[in-house]
Amino acid sequence: MLVSGRGSNLQALIDAVRDGRLQATIAVVLCNVPDAPALVKATNAGIETLVASHLGWPSREAYDEHLAEALHARQVDVVCLAGFMRRLSARFLERFSGPVLNVHPSLLPAFPGVDAPDQALTHGVRVAGCTVHLVTAELDAGPIVRQACVAVHPDDSPASLSARILVEEHRLLPEAVARVLAGGWRVDGRRFVDA
Ligand code: GRF
Repeated sequence: MLVSGRGSNLQALIDAVRDGRLQATIAVVLCNVPDAPALVKATNAGIETLVASHLGWPSREAYDEHLAEALHARQVDVVCLAGFMRRLSARFLERFSGPVLNVHPSLLPAFPGVDAPDQALTHGVRVAGCTVHLVTAELDAGPIVRQACVAVHPDDSPASLSARILVEEHRLLPEAVARVLAGGWRVDGRRFVDA
């Protein structure tokens, strides 16, 4: 898993593995921020952590190659981005050939990028939600594996809407990871197709 911050989605995956809802091993939690709370969550769960700051590298590609090598060295099959606040380059996707998943707090393709719940409120949408998608070189635009929606309330703030969306993220991400690990899917153009 690649993380940068709080790590609540990481915790959701840890819990899903513990409960047997997700048959997987979280091989490593790789984080670009040395004091991220996600690292504590991983350590508490007995998962290997690796801090790899993105600062000081000659290029984005050089850093991304380093990440891909670290994942290969641990024989990772699927990479999961959960609040990893870095855009991965095409080089990463060339070097890591397995599926890469991301969880995003909007119903993509609406509101890609940062502050998605904020953007949703600014647009006055009545329904918001979250998306787990395969990562491609285009930001927040890869094939959609799973989505869930939540109602937007008239008095919502970005914080209250984010909190409602987060509950769905925690349910959706383990389900999507399990779906991808199970195989029998394919990508057809922009679409993730269940077998
Ligand atoms: C989540 O809202 C996720 O959708 C977005 O970043 C946030 C990460 O939260 N990509 P956490 O670190 O998993 O708590």
